[in-house]
Amino acid sequence: MTVHIGAQKGEIAETVLMPGDPYRAKWAAETFLTDVRLVNEVRGMLGFTGTWNGHPVTIQGSGMGMPSLSIYANELIRDYGAKTLIRIGSCGGMQPHVGIRDVIIAMTASTLSTPSRGIFKELNFAPCADWSLLRAAVAAAEAKGTKTHVGGIYSSDVFYDERPDLNEQMTRHGILGVEMEAAELYNLAARHSVRALAVLTVSDHLQTGEALPSEDRERSFGDMVEIALTAAFA
Ligand code: ADE
Repeated sequence: MTVHIGAQKGEIAETVLMPGDPYRAKWAAETFLTDVRLVNEVRGMLGFTGTWNGHPVTIQGSGMGMPSLSIYANELIRDYGAKTLIRIGSCGGMQPHVGIRDVIIAMTASTLSTPSRGIFKELNFAPCADWSLLRAAVAAAEAKGTKTHVGGIYSSDVFYDERPDLNEQMTRHGILGVEMEAAELYNLAARHSVRALAVLTVSDHLQTGEALPSEDRERSFGDMVEIALTAAFA
């Protein structure tokens, strides 16, 4: 057990999918894994371990924002030996050609700041995805026929943004979408020599104001989970 995860040693798989929402973790585990068991419910941040095509997989909620994800990812890596961590979550589209329900595979994640700022100080470290996972996820998305974009995303500290000028600069610089966790996951993976990737579904669009109706969310989310699982074991 750790401070925030109640699982015993050995109850967490080396491959961990991390949705922000703990109930999404439950849904994904019940939908895609077999032999599923609840391994964490500390603070309601549900985690489940099961198997996918015979491979052990844990699906652990990260919470929202980089400070929350940092707690869970640190403990998963340092205390439970997680080696492959894939964020599965939603994001806001930032380019006109990126549509609602499309999948974004994040090659890099730009930020204003992350919990790692204290280490990097004046250095603008470039958090990037693991190449083997990125390549495998793109291949899996192509094989499924999912409309997918690959490129940079923006990991913001705020959902209710008081600086629309910053979003405009992100869009101007080709950033595909905004979410709130991936950059710190990539920082931690680099620090601990493990693999990380973020596979995201576009749930809303900053320019058009469109948002995915709740009844459509599960189906769209499913493609992303399958892409992440396929990439993890490619
Ligand atoms: N996650 C999903 N949509 C988002 C948005 N518009 N901003 C930040 N995070 C998000």
